[in-house]
Formats: sequence, C-alpha cells, structure tokens
Amino acid sequence: MTQNTVSKVGTMVFWTLVLGALVAVIALVTHESLKAGAARGADPGDPKRAQRGRAVYDTHCAVCHGAQLEGQANWGTRLPNGRMPAPPHDASGHTWHHPDAVLFGITKHGLVPGKYAPPGYQSDMPAFGGTLSDDDIWAVLAYIKSRWPGEIQRRQLEIDRNARAPR
Ligand code: HEC
Repeated sequence: MTQNTVSKVGTMVFWTLVLGALVAVIALVTHESLKAGAARGADPGDPKRAQRGRAVYDTHCAVCHGAQLEGQANWGTRLPNGRMPAPPHDASGHTWHHPDAVLFGITKHGLVPGKYAPPGYQSDMPAFGGTLSDDDIWAVLAYIKSRWPGEIQRRQLEIDRNARAPR
C-alpha cells in the first residue's frame, strides 16, 4: 500500500465513523421523543405512576376538578366573576383533546394568556410550578389518563403523536 492509499483508507474510516455516530444520535433522539410520554412518567399503563399521581391529584386537584374527576357543578357556565369553573378531567371533559406537552404546561404555568388561552384571559386555574415537581406533574397526568377508557386513551395518544410529529 502506498502512503496515498493509506491516507485514503484513513479518511474513509474517519467519515464512516462520523456518519455512524450521526445516525446513532438521530436514532436515539427519535426513539426518545417517541416514548417521551412514557419516559417522562405520564404513562397511564404504569400502575405505580398512576398511584403516585392519584395522591397528587387528591391533594392538589380534587378540590376543584372533583374527587372523581367530574369537574365543578355547571362547569360549562361562567361564574359570577366572569371566569370559568373547573372542567372535568374524565372522558366527558376536554382535557383529553390536548397533547401531553400542553397538559403539562397548563398544570405547571396555568392558563397563560397568549399561550394556552386568548390574550388577556383570566382563569382560576393555579400554576403549580412552585408547588409540584415536574415529576409530580407527569405522575398526576398519568393518573388522569389512567381514568380514561381505552378508546379515549388511544385518541389522546394520537393527538399527542400528531403534535410531536415534525412539520
Ligand atoms: C382552585 C381551583 C383549581 C385547582 C386546585 C386546580 N385547577 Fe385545573 N382548572 C381550574 C379551572 C377553573 C380551570 C378552567 C380554567 C378556564 O377555562 O379558565 C382549570 C383547567 C385545567 C386544565 C385545562 C383543561 C382543558 O380542557 O383545557 C388542566 C389540564 C388542569 N386544570 C389541570 C389541573 C391539575 C392537574 C390540577 C392539580 C395539580 C389542577 N388543575 C388544580 C381550577 C383548578
């Protein structure tokens, strides 16, 4: 082998390694984002997560959203202060129409006007960022999801996937 061939082979090996590493990183990132809901602990099929989430729910959410996730009475009608009552989190509510990231964001930051609600919107939904850890929030979402029938869980999973798909 001439000096020239050796350096050509060396260059080829180098680029093959770079390409390989790149493919591995892309595969990992894709894989991670696909199972993100489960990895972050919002997997309704994990009884331990759901159980932990239930404790969080009973302590922090039930007072407004109802012990059985049924929401406040007449939740579709504005309160005298012009704000909306707490809606149900069960299958009869609107919660399951949101992707995971939105449910997480609303729970952590509240119904931020201009982001999760129209500009200037006022809401009684508290922001839990200062009270609950991210892990608590994912756990409570796992619990809420675990209370939906299988068909609703599948539809929300679909909504979550679509929200995540690269555009
Ligand atoms: C003080 C009462 C109160 C508590 C406590 C509360 N919420 Fe809410 N929540 C509300 C109200 C009121 C709304 C509806 C806000 C609106 O439309 O203005 C709401 C809305 C939401 C929504 C949006 C639902 C949708 O369909 O868009 C999510 C998600 C939510 N709450 C999650 C939680 C979670 C999780 C907890 C417990 C960690 C919690 N909330 C605790 C009052 C409360």
